[in-house]
This record gives sequence, structure tokens and C-alpha cells, in this order.
Amino acid sequence: MEESPKSSSGPIVILTGAGISAESGISTFRGSSGLWENHRIEDVASPEGFARNPELVQRFYNGRRNQLTLENIQPNAAHKALAKLEQEWPEPVLIVTQNIDPLHERGGSKNVLHMHGELLKSRCQACEKVFDCNEDLNSQTPCPGCQQMGSLRPHVVWFGETPLFLPEIFSALETCSLFMAIGTSSNVYPAAGFVEHIRMNTMAHTVELNLEPSSMRSNFHECIYGPASDIVPTYVDELLKA
Ligand code: OAD
Repeated sequence: MEESPKSSSGPIVILTGAGISAESGISTFRGSSGLWENHRIEDVASPEGFARNPELVQRFYNGRRNQLTLENIQPNAAHKALAKLEQEWPEPVLIVTQNIDPLHERGGSKNVLHMHGELLKSRCQACEKVFDCNEDLNSQTPCPGCQQMGSLRPHVVWFGETPLFLPEIFSALETCSLFMAIGTSSNVYPAAGFVEHIRMNTMAHTVELNLEPSSMRSNFHECIYGPASDIVPTYVDELLKA
């Protein structure tokens, strides 16, 4: 027997993807062009792409990082609704995001795991330390820790690399009562496989909230389609009212 989300007040895990930030002005990865901000994903999101052309990759992420300082890039109603859920739900609410932007935190969420890394962090390939990063990186930038020049890279998980926080994430998936997947096309593993893992191992209720059906839609108990800024606040209000 599966739990009804309305009658349960157990822990919640929320997987988010690029769709939740789309209405905040940040492009999704798999738009109709198949390009990410005019670049092939493999050129700017793989270790091979970085090895081939580090300056291009650094320029690309410098651009993404600078975009976050624009006034119009703000958390939208969906980010804020999830922060309200975390505040008002009696049990833990964990956001596992594939997004590298800081809009969940800017919207007020505290319990957030960035499984694909963060734009506002850099990592030194020499000393392996992670640093806050609010400035442009290039081949002359010294590491603030070991001072090695040109060793900093965006702290972003690229294709072929292992996502972050997997033990914590799987432990939360296995103990949650409700799993929500918001704004993700479910094309990239392991995140795409979370719903199957939950269905195989738990009684949790699972719901997809997306603009359109994702490739994993048949695995969810419940599917709600529309813009995140519309459907997420409505769903959260229903949960909090029940
Ligand atoms: P995608 O770009 O693959 O998918 C975005 C999803 O959001 C699509 O299913 C859209 O239909 C949906 N969407 C778009 N606008 C929306 C809106 N306003 N409201 C609700 N949904 C909307 O992005 P992700 O699934 O997040 O990884 O991509 C996963 C990973 O692939 C990324 O984290 C990144 C990428 O390559 C790495 O870089 C490692």
C-alpha cells in the first residue's frame, strides 16, 4: 500500500531541474535547439571539452556566473513555495537540485544539495579544495589555497564525473514519504533513476511537476503539467492545507 501525500506528514525529497529556473530567466539545457546558450553540451560540460579548450569553458561559466548578478534573475514563485514548504512542513524537506544556480537558496530554502555542483564555487585541480567564487576564472587565476596558477575550474559536475552527495541523497530517498520531481526532463542519470529507485524500495508517493511529460512519466503515481511558477505553489498549498 502506498502513502497518500495528503494524509502523510513524513519527510519529503524534491528533485529539481532546469525547468524550475526557466521562468527566472535561466535557460534550460535541452531547449528546442539542442544547444546550451549556443554551445554543444559536450563542449562546455565535459572534462574532454575542458581539456580541449579551457579558455572557452572558463568564458562560458564566467558568462553563466555573471548572469546571476543581473537584477532580473530572481527566484520565482516555485522556488519560494518550496522554501515555504520547508518552513511549515513538520518533517524534513530536502531539495536535491541538478541546477548550479543559487535560486533555491535565494528563495529561502536551507536544506539544499547541489548534486551537479554550484556556479558560485570553484575547485582547485591541484589541491582539490573548493572555494566560493564570485569572479571570472581564467588560466592566470591563482588558487587562493595553494597559489598554483590556472588550476581552478568551475565546481560543476560534468558528463562522465560522479555527482555529489550520492550517499546522503539515496539515504533520503529511501526514507521519504513523498518524492516530487520538478522541471527535469529525466534524461541524465543518476537523477533520472531516483523515481524508479523509490518505487522499487519504498512506499513513498511520487509526483512529477513539469511543463510536459518527461521520459520517466510512467513511473510516477501523479503527474501535473504546467509552468512551475503556477503548479508548484498550488501543489504546496494543497499539501500544507491537508
Ligand atoms: P533539461 O533542460 O533537460 O529539462 C528541463 C525540463 O524542464 C524539460 O522537461 C522542460 O519541459 C521543463 N520545463 C521548461 N520550462 C519549464 C517551466 N516553466 N516549468 C516547469 N517545467 C519546465 O534540464 P534538466 O533535466 O535539469 O547536468 O537537465 C539535467 C542535467 O542535464 C543538468 O543538470 C545538466 C544537464 O546536462 C550537468 O551539467 C551534469
